[in-house]
Amino acid sequence: MSSNQPKSSANRDSFASSLGILLAMTGSAVGLGNLWRFPYLVGENGGAAFIIVYLVCVIFICMPIMACEFIIGRRSQANAFGAYKKLGGNKGWKVAGLLSVLAAAFILSFYSVVGGWSIRYMLMSFGLRFTSGGGIQPESTFNTFVTGTWPPILYTLAFLLCTGVIIVAGVKNGIEKFTKTLMPVLFVLMVILAVRSMTLPGAGEGVRYLFKPDFSKFTASSAIAALGQAFFSLSLGCGTILTYASYVPRSENIFTCGAKTTILDTLFALIAGCAIMPAVFAYGISPGQGPGLVFVTLPAIFAELPAGGIAAILFFVSLFLAALTSAISLLEVVIAFLIEECKMRRAAAVAVSMSVFVVLAVLCSLSQGPLSHVKLFTLNIFDLFDYVSSNVLMTFGALLAVLFVGHKLSRADILDELSSGGLHPIPAGLFKTFYFIIRWAAPVVIIGILVAGLLG
Ligand code: TRP
Repeated sequence: MSSNQPKSSANRDSFASSLGILLAMTGSAVGLGNLWRFPYLVGENGGAAFIIVYLVCVIFICMPIMACEFIIGRRSQANAFGAYKKLGGNKGWKVAGLLSVLAAAFILSFYSVVGGWSIRYMLMSFGLRFTSGGGIQPESTFNTFVTGTWPPILYTLAFLLCTGVIIVAGVKNGIEKFTKTLMPVLFVLMVILAVRSMTLPGAGEGVRYLFKPDFSKFTASSAIAALGQAFFSLSLGCGTILTYASYVPRSENIFTCGAKTTILDTLFALIAGCAIMPAVFAYGISPGQGPGLVFVTLPAIFAELPAGGIAAILFFVSLFLAALTSAISLLEVVIAFLIEECKMRRAAAVAVSMSVFVVLAVLCSLSQGPLSHVKLFTLNIFDLFDYVSSNVLMTFGALLAVLFVGHKLSRADILDELSSGGLHPIPAGLFKTFYFIIRWAAPVVIIGILVAGLLG
């Protein structure tokens, strides 16, 4: 290893096994982005055409960015802020770390609200409310619930509580144990749902919609949406991958781990598409339902579907688990920061950050109803947090991460870290392509979407 290798901090918690690392990373990536956002974006942007552009973005832009976060995290063995401070020589790069922590905090605030909705829907599914006799009016049930005051707040707090309880237990005993058990369960549930959906009479059209491209509905803004979704789904740009990577031992092959995480996340998104779209088509519903797709359209389908009550349970349990394993990765960004930079104990860090998140998440929840008139630039608080974090902070975070690795770290150090000090050699051609992408191609594309996002 090169002499620039920073010393690792003693007593730092870390992951225990390669499988644990992969599943924790995948748990962070697979979330509402896959089960909720990806299917409705596919529906709004012309099906297979969107998926193809999404895959191109994932392979050529996002996979290299993910590798950059792995490099920064593992090399520094520090939280997002500390990582840039350690590797960047205590200069302005610290701002990049701060942006990441802020982005994670903003995302967690509105993410917990939707996480809370998923708990409520999961409980409703246990009560067999999504069956023909369940007495649900999908649209009004959803609207009445989310625009209310106390019920959505209580579910949001319940979601935050679950997140906090797992994080208090630490990296090995909390995050790793939990995700290692739950991700395989999630995978099985989703596959069962996809098979059920794809074998419905009339499902063929939905399958064709997912896999047969029609570029006539695809626009420039669809391309931006595809890249933005790829960022969000892979948890890039707000220090989550970076923070998890800081708990990865030196002997681990981070290059293949990043690639596998990307592949699994994409697989989950496609399986979610296969679980949802064929059923949507089989029931003659138009695919472009927007954000209401899983909370309004799907309940309507479950009510008609033979054994739909069971499908509803499988789906909403999956949604909750996927949201939870992502939320813990967001919270850990903030917790690692508080532990290492503010010298707090883990439990105290969780208590302090939770009290802030409770306030922010409650505001996001109320902005759906009682506070819906509070607006900045036509956006309510929930949408503002979503916009600022997804379109601005995350994109800046990702840009700074690639610029940092591509232009601040030396080529030798990058290769050293990526190959784990030569333990897992990387083919020269592959490294050359990677180096070109992170130095030039990725920054240009990211600046492009930043500009397009700010203009549009
Ligand atoms: N990737 C998760 C999802 O698809 C959400 C998420 C977790 C996230 N950590 C993140 C998004 C960091 C952006 C950045 O739902």
